[in-house]
Amino acid sequence: MKTYLVTGGAGFIGSNFVIYMLGKYSDIKIVNFDKLTYAGNLENLKAIENNKNHIFVQGDICDKEVVENLFKVYDIDYVVNFAAESHVDRSIKEPEIFAKTNVLGTVNLLNVAKNAWETETGFKAGVKYLQVSTDEVYGSLGETGYFVEETPLDSHSPYSSSKAGADLMVKAYADTFKMPVNITRCSNNYGPFQFPEKLIPLLINNCLNHKDLPVYGDGLNIRDWLYVEDHCKAIDMVINNGRLGEVYNVGGHNERTNMQIVKTVIEYLHESVDKEISETLIKYVEDRKGHDKRYGIDPVKIKEELGWYPETTFEVGIKKTIQWNLDNKDWMNNVTSGQYQKYYDKMYEGK
Ligand code: NAD
Ligand code: TYD
Repeated sequence: MKTYLVTGGAGFIGSNFVIYMLGKYSDIKIVNFDKLTYAGNLENLKAIENNKNHIFVQGDICDKEVVENLFKVYDIDYVVNFAAESHVDRSIKEPEIFAKTNVLGTVNLLNVAKNAWETETGFKAGVKYLQVSTDEVYGSLGETGYFVEETPLDSHSPYSSSKAGADLMVKAYADTFKMPVNITRCSNNYGPFQFPEKLIPLLINNCLNHKDLPVYGDGLNIRDWLYVEDHCKAIDMVINNGRLGEVYNVGGHNERTNMQIVKTVIEYLHESVDKEISETLIKYVEDRKGHDKRYGIDPVKIKEELGWYPETTFEVGIKKTIQWNLDNKDWMNNVTSGQYQKYYDKMYEGK
């Protein structure tokens, strides 16, 4: 039975990953380690609250003693590091916490894992550290071309620069200590449990409340959208079959301008929920500082080496995501009002 230490597993992608893995495998154990910042929410894990192979531990990836203790208590085979500060706008306001969590937290995890896994002749067999990174470390594209694994790192925001710094520390542990690692760099995700500070859930939430839809700049910046479950599938494949030391880009050739996303969300909600939801809600606002123009991934390596491909088209994924938000209005209300603590008390009382 393999034991995974999943950090940030109460956040958006991490919780989807934990649910995906426990649904797919009955012979793994997941130690889910999360600080429960504003972005972490145990309500996301309700579907697996009775699963004996899921253990939740609240804590900070920067805390050496606590992370060391996890390795003492559990026989950890894999680390999958999702834990991060993840929102670009917040990073522009408060860069320090991004450097601390994303860079120093990653170094702490790497170091504790290395000390636990190193033997006299190298590393224990079958262990691996996987860093969940982002395409934003590559910077911004012009009208043509794609990011590939060899594209030089050229991050711009404090968020993407902290992720690039973390990636380089992972590379340092691989190059210097021969530590078994992989890095995945995925494009923008969307799907259930995404915190409504990010574009798609923010649009859905604002539409439902008849609030303005803030569009930064001219609305023509381009992101490459991937349904979160396809990202989870890619991470599973890389942990289990990725070549040691390699970087894998993950994306499904789903580029859209922000304005296309805004109009798609409005159209769906206008038709299915409320005729008052319309383009009159769109409000152009001041552009984000240093706003990257375009991201686009060429996923040929992960396709050819591991057989990964995206299963959910954007048209299907966006409908599923909007519908999920409509079916889970309590979740939205709870995360925006901090009420989820009650789920923590209910799920983990006495454990
Ligand atoms: P998120 O903000 O929804 O979740 C982050 C989680 O990490 C939260 O549960 C939070 O409580 C936890 N956390 C934060 N600081 C911590 C700390 N010091 N110790 C322990 N836990 C801590 O983020 P997300 O969108 O789910 O992103 C997860 C990872 O995937 C991040 O590393 C991000 O850089 C990467 N990523 C995200 C996207 C995307 O589109 N969201 C795309 C590519 C890569
Ligand atoms: P976001 O979801 O924050 O992801 P990222 O910045 O990591 O790509 O933003 C996606 C795009 O949407 C980005 O170009 C910024 C833009 N955006 C808006 O126009 N309005 C908003 O309110 C938000 C949150 C983002």
